[in-house]
Amino acid sequence: MELIINTGNPLRGQASLPGDKSISHRAALFAALAHGESRFSNFLDSGVTRAMLNALSDLGIKWELAGTNLRVQGAGLAAWRTPDRSVNCGNSGTTMRLLAGALAATNTQAVLDGSAGLRQRPMDRVIDPLRHMGALVDAAPGGKAPLSFNAREQAGKLRGIEYAMPVASAQVKSALLLAALGAETSTTICEPYASRDHSEIMLRAMGVNIFRGDAEGGITLYPSPTPLKPLEMAIPGDISSAAFLIVAALITPGSEIVLKNVGLNPTRTGLLDVLSRMGGDIEILPGMAQYNESIGDIKVRHSKLHAVEVGGETVVRMIDEFPVFAAAAANAEGISTVRGAEELRYKETDRIRLLVSALHDFGIPVEEYPDGFKITGGEKYSGGRAAAGGDHRLGMALAVLGLGSSTATRVQGAQIIGESFPAFVPTLQALGADVSMHDG
Ligand code: S3P
Repeated sequence: MELIINTGNPLRGQASLPGDKSISHRAALFAALAHGESRFSNFLDSGVTRAMLNALSDLGIKWELAGTNLRVQGAGLAAWRTPDRSVNCGNSGTTMRLLAGALAATNTQAVLDGSAGLRQRPMDRVIDPLRHMGALVDAAPGGKAPLSFNAREQAGKLRGIEYAMPVASAQVKSALLLAALGAETSTTICEPYASRDHSEIMLRAMGVNIFRGDAEGGITLYPSPTPLKPLEMAIPGDISSAAFLIVAALITPGSEIVLKNVGLNPTRTGLLDVLSRMGGDIEILPGMAQYNESIGDIKVRHSKLHAVEVGGETVVRMIDEFPVFAAAAANAEGISTVRGAEELRYKETDRIRLLVSALHDFGIPVEEYPDGFKITGGEKYSGGRAAAGGDHRLGMALAVLGLGSSTATRVQGAQIIGESFPAFVPTLQALGADVSMHDG
């Protein structure tokens, strides 16, 4: 599919966002470990969350999705079943890494596999510490998928560990916390910077004894002697999807939009801080937190942006937002730099390389660093042809970049956007943008 973006129309009005991808993944999976029925509204129905749901079906879990309302029947850790084929995690790193932790905890024999892209992504960061805990896992050379989990003879006898994670990763942290549920003793995990903490919040809501210790940031989990409680939650709108609309409104003259009920967990709001530092007119109207997940409306007006430097802990708090940040930087006066973001090379694609080459094709001055990039913004650029390159966030970022250009833009391979934000195009259209999807 090809996405055609014509420039000039301001974005105006209100929009709601699909459910947060990270929380939706966790909702489905954690509920499958609880005892009883969990209920969620605003569940994200997209390519990657379908991968999680289908994987859970293969593992014997019953669920029902009606629109965006999800019900999951959990029967505890012991109820997981060995599937009769390998579990297809599709293109979803979160599905594979979180399931790896859950398979270790539930002592389930299963093979986790996925798309050619997922088979290229690093899984050693999850399976190495799981092996320290006593999990029996085989992987393809280089610590890649497919991952084969073998059942241990004695159920529920993982060892708790103390583990200092070499990179900040919520997927790895969550996998280890899940595995820790099936260990004999407590587990403590330290991260270089605090990554998203949706797992910690949800596990606490399920009755698990889990807490963050001293300033070093260690998270300790005690295995629960009692069954895990089911959950009931309205999943907040996805800030990582909202990010595309926020930047689109900031760079399009005459725009003023309000995004309703967006998740504002502080471990996810790095981009909002950075855009405010760039001069973005962004107002937060706080709403009612649920299970400690902050939520609110975000009001955005077109603004004259200036360049910014991004590094350190902010990188982790906006790890999925760099593609759209690049579109903001291209429209901001001056030289913007990103450092300390090497992790971007291990996402759905090597996002540093693909972003640099896409910006280059738009004629925007850009330079690649091993751990980031430098963009000289503020000059008018013209649109043209671009390719999503099999990366949903790159596809949407290119569309936003197109909105800031002086001529029309065509993004090829745009169907990949459905992995995380199937309603991206209709939402932009409802706000007044001249965008349309075509076969081809
Ligand atoms: C996610 C964590 C991040 C993020 C991904 C979702 C999660 O990945 O990029 O989109 O839900 O835990 P890493 O853990 O690899 O940083």
